[in-house]
Amino acid sequence: MSLDSVQSAAAEQFGRQSHRYGKGHILADVSDVIAALNRFSLPSPAHVLDVATGAGHTGLHCASLGHDVTCADIAQPMLDRVNEAADERGLKVMTRLHPAESMPYPDGTFDLVTSRVAPHHFSSPESFVREAARVLKSGGHLLVIDGNIEDGDPVAEEWSHRVETLRDPSHHRFLSPAQWRALCAAAGLQTLHAALEPFKMPDLEWYFDTANTSPANRAAVLELVRNVPAEAQRQFNLAEENGKITWWWRRLTLIAAKPADAR
Ligand SMILES: C[S@@+](CC[C@H](N)C(=O)[O-])C[C@H]1O[C@@H](n2cnc3c(N)ncnc32)[C@H](O)[C@@H]1O
Repeated sequence: MSLDSVQSAAAEQFGRQSHRYGKGHILADVSDVIAALNRFSLPSPAHVLDVATGAGHTGLHCASLGHDVTCADIAQPMLDRVNEAADERGLKVMTRLHPAESMPYPDGTFDLVTSRVAPHHFSSPESFVREAARVLKSGGHLLVIDGNIEDGDPVAEEWSHRVETLRDPSHHRFLSPAQWRALCAAAGLQTLHAALEPFKMPDLEWYFDTANTSPANRAAVLELVRNVPAEAQRQFNLAEENGKITWWWRRLTLIAAKPADAR
């Protein structure tokens, strides 16, 4: 598998940190996935591809609904965590090692492609959406849930980009809803739903520990937090609660469909 520098950084970072993404992680709460899946219908069973599956919370939820699921990631240790969790929960999934930007499946394979809290690491979200559109069947759906930034707010975007990159060097870029819609349109997908919701991040120290952020970078992030510009504060609502720094991610849920008459 030949990887570009952004992909290599993600494979290395998440390969090292895979054990932090299991049961106790906030991503184990899949209420966002459940809410999104209630917005459209799927065949039963559906063929589902969960891209950048991490510890597999999204893919395993789909498998628990009886779907036929492939969990893919760029870091083999994450796929090992998925297989362990599947065994523990008595679920069956396939695991595949590949980048989101290049998918080793024939055209028209899946009814649903998902990617949750991962696309901000992708070196090319364009290639990811194009590949997702290619491997979807006609009438299939793409579901993206990810950290995001409101349209037209470059100051908040730059501030959050600096914070996220210091915290985890494999962070690449948050896209705005308009940017996601444009990527879908360019790939021939119709956006059915795109909504930003605030999502509470409970503790900056925990967030650092999850990424094994270096002491120097923690200090640099704290400096940025102390000097947060008004535009970023309006979006992220940073606060201190019981000695912990909390803030609110803007979480995008985007659902797009491949037209039924598309090839
Ligand atoms: C926060 S975890 C994903 C969480 C997971 N989707 C869930 O629902 O719990 C981010 C994952 O993205 C993967 N990743 C990052 N860049 C990738 C890329 N270009 N292709 C495939 N996987 C990637 C990482 O290896 C990591 O496992």
